[in-house]
Amino acid sequence: MKKFEQVHTHTEDEVRAITAGNGIFVIKGSDDVGYMDVILSAGDVISVPENKPHYFTLMDNRKIVAVRLFIETEGWIAHPYADSSFQQA
Ligand SMILES: [Fe+2]
Repeated sequence: MKKFEQVHTHTEDEVRAITAGNGIFVIKGSDDVGYMDVILSAGDVISVPENKPHYFTLMDNRKIVAVRLFIETEGWIAHPYADSSFQQA
């Protein structure tokens, strides 16, 4: 999970369908909002827009089964996003 807990972007939308368990997408909003948590559970589908800074982390139960969908192989690559305003909890 370590590689997912760093803020990053993708060159295309990251679509993720949760099939079991739950987890949290932490997504950068507008400057006045900052980072926000999006809690996902089984049956949820999320599409994080391309170039939108985010990361994914587990909840206390540390259980999740998810399917990630990308169009191109390169879309899977996580590009680190340096953000001096970000402080991980
Ligand atoms: Fe991602």
